[in-house]
Amino acid sequence: MQTAANVVQGRMGPHPTDVTVEYKGRGDGSTMKALAWFGAEDVRVIDAPIPDITDPDDVIVAVTGTTICGSDLHLYHGEILALQKGDILGHEFMGKVDRVGPNVTKFKVGDRVVASFQIACGKCEYCQKKLSTFCDRTNRSSLQNAMYGHRDAGIFGYSHFTGGFPGGQAEYVRVPFGEVNLLHIPDSVPEEYALYISDVLTTSYHSIVDTGVKKGDVVGIWGLGPIGQCAARWALVKGAKRVIGIDRIPERLAFAQHKSGIETIDFSEHTDVVKRLQEMVPGGLDVAIEAGASFREPKSLLHKAQKTLMMETDNPEALNEMLMTVKKRGTCGLIADYAGFANGFNIGALMEKGIRFIGCGQAPTQLYWEEILNDYIIPSKFDPTFMITHRVPLEDMAKLYAAFDKRQDGVVKVFVETKISPPPAPGCPILSRVDDWSK
Ligand SMILES: NC(=O)c1ccc[n+]([C@@H]2O[C@H](COP(=O)([O-])OP(=O)(O)OC[C@H]3O[C@@H](n4cnc5c(N)ncnc54)[C@H](O)[C@@H]3O)[C@@H](O)[C@H]2O)c1
Ligand SMILES: [Zn+2]
Ligand SMILES: [Zn+2]
Repeated sequence: MQTAANVVQGRMGPHPTDVTVEYKGRGDGSTMKALAWFGAEDVRVIDAPIPDITDPDDVIVAVTGTTICGSDLHLYHGEILALQKGDILGHEFMGKVDRVGPNVTKFKVGDRVVASFQIACGKCEYCQKKLSTFCDRTNRSSLQNAMYGHRDAGIFGYSHFTGGFPGGQAEYVRVPFGEVNLLHIPDSVPEEYALYISDVLTTSYHSIVDTGVKKGDVVGIWGLGPIGQCAARWALVKGAKRVIGIDRIPERLAFAQHKSGIETIDFSEHTDVVKRLQEMVPGGLDVAIEAGASFREPKSLLHKAQKTLMMETDNPEALNEMLMTVKKRGTCGLIADYAGFANGFNIGALMEKGIRFIGCGQAPTQLYWEEILNDYIIPSKFDPTFMITHRVPLEDMAKLYAAFDKRQDGVVKVFVETKISPPPAPGCPILSRVDDWSK
């Protein structure tokens, strides 16, 4: 699949962009540790050249915190198109400014910054509205253009389908258009409170804002990974009356019940999720949010078979559960990643019930990051550290992929430290080694 996608992309040629994708190394040949993809379930920590300023708007960041995301598991399983051997992964990172290009005046060496997971130009029609993931000028993937009619912004470390930019599971990262794609972090905000602005916090917030969750709503959330756990909390912040989370992993269900005080459904026990939800909320949900990873994990034999036979890339099971349990004129939102085509989507329910069905898109971090930092994190109105279960060193990154994939040791969200990370903030997990996690 990867080879075919790369051949097709090669034949179509790159879309013109305003940015250089591959970075220049430093003249002295210095290297850094980075996590690279080599094949399905084959990722390795390698020595890669340390990036230097390549375009005049670049900022080089020395990483003080990075992590792994549920989205990385789609890459790990080779389910996102156009991965190439040696691609450096990772799209959530923060650090200290190490070098600035000649056009950069907003940042100086030593400033603490967090990156948005997307690379935006700051000038196009979408960027002007801060819809940074929809930037028109940073993703050269003609394959994505051919499949969707348009292209997303470039994304750090997320395959050549999103531009082929080296990512942030590394000791250094080159950030193109650094003034646009970095947010200054005050010294008073520790790493564990700032890192997740990159993606998880802004993405989960976007799912709630985009679907219009409001006071008194009953909200269903499919998937209780970091995105679902945070979405549940944001829904409560926005005044939701009830939040019901659906998953099958015991630690995650318990985590949501006890740490966030929401109701849950274990779909391994209640295999008919529609029936269970209809019992719990007879009138139907106001808002249903897909925050699982279900496109990769079909539940029924029918969809397992269709996926194996490559008759569909994605499956509609969670979407159909949402369409069946949301009330008439209710809203369904998709924040979980979907990539291609799903058979048997209940379009009749969508139409007849007058449902607002929203593709939330890759979340535009830059639309929300100042609000989340200044209105929620700094005044302690939202504590993102509730979801951090582990801290590991970057050298364990390859092992972390396998352990995170198996959801070992009750893992929800991980803080990955580098040699220059400050010590853990008070109350946050101390360093552990993946080899010592329970199996
Ligand atoms: N739109 C964006 O900008 C954006 C950004 C980040 C992540 N994502 C996507 O959001 C999703 C969640 O991310 P995460 O980091 O929380 O992932 P995760 O893999 O840690 O968690 C996903 C959870 O969904 C559960 N799940 C799987 N199938 C399910 C089903 N049929 N019903 C209910 N639950 C189900 C799993 O058991 C798991 O606990 C992923 O698909 C990820 O790719 C999207
Ligand atoms: Zn992510
Ligand atoms: Zn743009």
